[in-house]
Amino acid sequence: MSLEQTLNDDERLAQLDLDQLRQLVGLVEYDASGDPFPVSGWDALVWVVGNATQAAHFYQSALGMELVAYSGPETGTRDHLAYVLRSGAARFVVTGAYDPASPLADHHRRHGDGIRDIALSVPDVDRCIAHARAQGATVLEEPHDLGDEHGTVRLAAIATYGDTRHTLVDRSRYTGPYLPGFAARTSSHQPRPGRPERLFQAVDHVVGNVELGAMDRWVDFYHRVMGFTNMAEFVGEDIATDYSALMSKVVSNGNHRVKFPLNEPAMGRKKSQIDEYLEFYGGPGAQHVALATNDILATVDAMTAEGIEFLPTPDSYYEDPELRARIGTVRVPVEELQRRGVLVDRDEDGYLLQIFTRPIGDRPTVFFELIERHGSLGFGKGNFKALFEAIEREQARRGNF
Ligand SMILES: [Fe+2]
Repeated sequence: MSLEQTLNDDERLAQLDLDQLRQLVGLVEYDASGDPFPVSGWDALVWVVGNATQAAHFYQSALGMELVAYSGPETGTRDHLAYVLRSGAARFVVTGAYDPASPLADHHRRHGDGIRDIALSVPDVDRCIAHARAQGATVLEEPHDLGDEHGTVRLAAIATYGDTRHTLVDRSRYTGPYLPGFAARTSSHQPRPGRPERLFQAVDHVVGNVELGAMDRWVDFYHRVMGFTNMAEFVGEDIATDYSALMSKVVSNGNHRVKFPLNEPAMGRKKSQIDEYLEFYGGPGAQHVALATNDILATVDAMTAEGIEFLPTPDSYYEDPELRARIGTVRVPVEELQRRGVLVDRDEDGYLLQIFTRPIGDRPTVFFELIERHGSLGFGKGNFKALFEAIEREQARRGNF
């Protein structure tokens, strides 16, 4: 599969070219002919929230997304509301119960706000499901067509960790705003004058937290069922602080468009941040979404102006001579990074800038990362220790450490 073919319609619509995308999310060339489960990219992150109407406002005001579609009782959906938001190639769908008997109300009671569905764009839904079934995956929805006056979408869904699923979507014969049952919808919300047009361009990776001892099982699931390969491996010492630890492995699809780091807690002197997540989410789930931006300073400034809170980074991080030597020259003065708490990591391929928000909901569970890649295909391994110490300070303030 050439890189040209790996751009999906949403990416083309977002006017992202290949060079931008290669840089933004670290795309690589690969040969799809032997891929048993070809994935072309992300389709949508589908959230279940306590109040979809207000969450849709949050994603517009605080994350700079654009409202593009809606479904609810007015469009014939009787039990829940769904708002579809875009930023570049990224699509979020926020859903909430309308009817108290909706299964989404129960999902929200168990998990709080979170990601229920990491939907992926695939060129051949039936081929993927046949392979997944042969490999023992749980098929939640058999392949089927949904149609309306805009065409036909082919869909199916498989289960992954916890109550999370992967819906597989082929929308190559569909021109509507999202899916049949949704109507185009815009909003009167206006961004602040001077704000960048978009605060992020694409989803880079989605991290899953799983139970102690389950990480290798899920790595194996992504290998066997979905043909993903290992990208990088972080184990033990790399990401242990004095108090808590975790293990992490990263799998990705062939062109690296879709990357899934998987974490499990490791034994430490105190409760791991992964344990805190598992306790409050009520089991495994998506821990953070990394949003790719080509100007992390402007994005942090715009989000901060809207009230988004980022994890603080101690001044000692920037004053550490070892770190200064390791990161070398980056595109902005270190003082600009320090002022905002932006972290830097460098590997053999280049460097990346990154920063993490506090949890965005009421529970200490899901949060966002902003990432600006300059050649590096990593995940900020060199920052894990500094970052986790910052997370632990927050955990201690909540009395969960
Ligand atoms: Fe990350």
